[in-house]
Amino acid sequence: MKIGSVLENRKIEKRVAITPEIAKKYISLGVDVCLSKNYGAHLGISDEEYKNTGAKFSDDEKEIINDSNIVVQLGLLSDDKISLLKEDQILIGVLNPYDNKKKLDELIKKKIKLFSLELLPRITRAQSMDILSSQANLAGYKAVIESFANFEKAIPMMMTAAGTVPAAKILVVGAGVAGLQAIATAKRMGGIVFATDVRMASKEQVESLGGKFLTVEGAENLETEGGYAKEASDDFKKKQEELLSETLKKIDIVICTALIPGKKAPVIIKEDMINNMQAGSVIYD
Ligand code: NAI
Repeated sequence: MKIGSVLENRKIEKRVAITPEIAKKYISLGVDVCLSKNYGAHLGISDEEYKNTGAKFSDDEKEIINDSNIVVQLGLLSDDKISLLKEDQILIGVLNPYDNKKKLDELIKKKIKLFSLELLPRITRAQSMDILSSQANLAGYKAVIESFANFEKAIPMMMTAAGTVPAAKILVVGAGVAGLQAIATAKRMGGIVFATDVRMASKEQVESLGGKFLTVEGAENLETEGGYAKEASDDFKKKQEELLSETLKKIDIVICTALIPGKKAPVIIKEDMINNMQAGSVIYD
């Protein structure tokens, strides 16, 4: 069996689907691995490092795809490469099926087997393949690091002989995996952290990390059986808007992580709220 992977569109994707560590695991199962030249060079991983694991290289990407039983990528292949896939080949990646439905339907018609990892059920058995949690965790951490770097003042309270700088106030909208990591990171760096979510279960989680939960008055619990958020009613949205409008006047940094699976992310911070924020505040989405 052969597993292949070609270069991603590096304008939007810097990650690679196969690291040398993963190549080694595949090869130890008796599978051949073939990659494009300079596959991980932009991340400081040389072809040599891959070759040491037994992986092979080719500068003909069409040949890699044609010869592979399984193609592993992050994003969906470009159109010219998708058209090379044929019956019984397997494509694994983050295929973004809600946006790429038409292209994926075509592949299904051609009897190509697709595994879109972001749709993998988040059950215990599949935890090691939960690409959403691992990436959301990093995104929540990075959101704090980047927004703090853009904030012109200090984050923790600074008491000096010359005076006191108050601690920065951070609001995290959406307290799922990314939001909880953002809360924990912001708290560790000395910020005063507030958070809100439409799922009431998240209140306890926010509080356990030292954040203050902002409950929308008369909030309905918008949690699905699977643990995700449902789209909010107009009444809820209005109440949430009122609460956030008032809160944002005193907030220095707001980090937006709210998502609803399969839908466009809700736009929660409106223009009039932004107009009421203090100069120098940071919004990170
Ligand atoms: P997500 O990425 O789909 O959404 C992020 C957050 O935004 C969610 O907490 C959601 O309730 C919130 N949200 C949506 N609309 C909102 C709005 N209008 N206003 C405010 N907040 C809004 O969710 P994620 O991070 O994937 O987590 C969903 C749940 O699944 C969480 O309870 C999480 O702890 C749980 N989970 C369980 C796992 C496991 O058991 N293996 C693995 C990963 C997550």
